[in-house]
Amino acid sequence: MNKRVISTELDHREAANENVLRPQSLKEYIGQQKVKESLKVYLDAAKKRNEALDHVLLYGPPGLGKTTLANIIASEMGVQIKITTGPAIEKPGDMAAILNGLSENDVLFIDEIHRLNRQVEEVLYTAMEDFAIDVVLGKGPTAHSIRLDLPHFTLVGATTRAGLLSAPLRDRFGVVFHLEFYTPEELKTIVVNSANKINVEIEEEGAFELARRSRGTPRLANRWLKRVRDFAEIKYDGIITKEVAQNTLDILDVDAMGLDRYDKEILLMIMDKFAGGPVGIDTLAAAIGEESGTIEDVYEPYLVKNGFIHRTPKGRVATDLAYEHFHRVRPQ
Ligand SMILES: Nc1ncnc2c1ncn2[C@@H]1O[C@H](COP(=O)(O)OP(=O)(O)OP(=O)(O)O)[C@@H](O)[C@H]1O
Ligand SMILES: [Mg+2]
Repeated sequence: MNKRVISTELDHREAANENVLRPQSLKEYIGQQKVKESLKVYLDAAKKRNEALDHVLLYGPPGLGKTTLANIIASEMGVQIKITTGPAIEKPGDMAAILNGLSENDVLFIDEIHRLNRQVEEVLYTAMEDFAIDVVLGKGPTAHSIRLDLPHFTLVGATTRAGLLSAPLRDRFGVVFHLEFYTPEELKTIVVNSANKINVEIEEEGAFELARRSRGTPRLANRWLKRVRDFAEIKYDGIITKEVAQNTLDILDVDAMGLDRYDKEILLMIMDKFAGGPVGIDTLAAAIGEESGTIEDVYEPYLVKNGFIHRTPKGRVATDLAYEHFHRVRPQ
């Protein structure tokens, strides 16, 4: 594979672990059916017209495949991708330099795009809309600005929190995709494909067990696969069976619903310390010693999606399912 990625810190870190397992084409990208169907149409249309794809915003919880999809968009378009993150671009001039270095139809991927500062964001407005940037020359009364044309490019933005994006920025994306949690069936396919890539034998039921306990998240499915492989090789005969998967995940403190110890901590806190809620997110975060943003972005979506927590105007409430799951009785 010819990698044309301009690396950033984030990419280095991810590349070491994830590039082997990362799907390279839309065909290999499992699940997210609705996203894939529309994206395919947009890609085909852009290619046919020999134009850059419209700007794409990807949002959803961590590990669901935003970075993967950005790379796939570039490779399906047959163009280069430049990768950076919101907090890494400090000054409008940095943004201008990045934009100026792009070639026609290239993809610029900005991860954590909600963390761009306002002045940098403003450079993007004209860049996205008119494919141009205004550069101010001189100072004081003689200052004047000139317009620099840019190549047509596709901005792919990723964020875990679409709500934190400013309206002017959000409105400039022609395409907005919300990535959903994966079904156990989809995750099973991902686990089996990954097992093939890293040459480990896995039984159907073993794969399903991993899938079921992966919080709807491919990154976790792949992570558990690697851990379970270690156990299979050292403690068993190398094959990942249902039993090997179950035993390993129990040791890793991932329960049958895929809840890890942080999920448990959050739910038990609501039930035991706050009488089931409602409890405000900031109070909950303080009690756990975690940032409220992390709870909202990383933990809560899965717990809400699977009916363990209700969001109410007064705060978070533990559901009957949560009480059942932890064998507790709701206080009167
Ligand atoms: N649809 C998919 N099919 C197969 N594997 C996938 C899919 N989506 C993600 N993965 C796997 O999960 C890993 C994590 O995905 P990725 O890094 O794209 O997530 P992300 O949404 O960018 O996460 P973050 O918000 O933390 O940046 C990838 O390395 C890839 O192997
Ligand atoms: Mg990512």
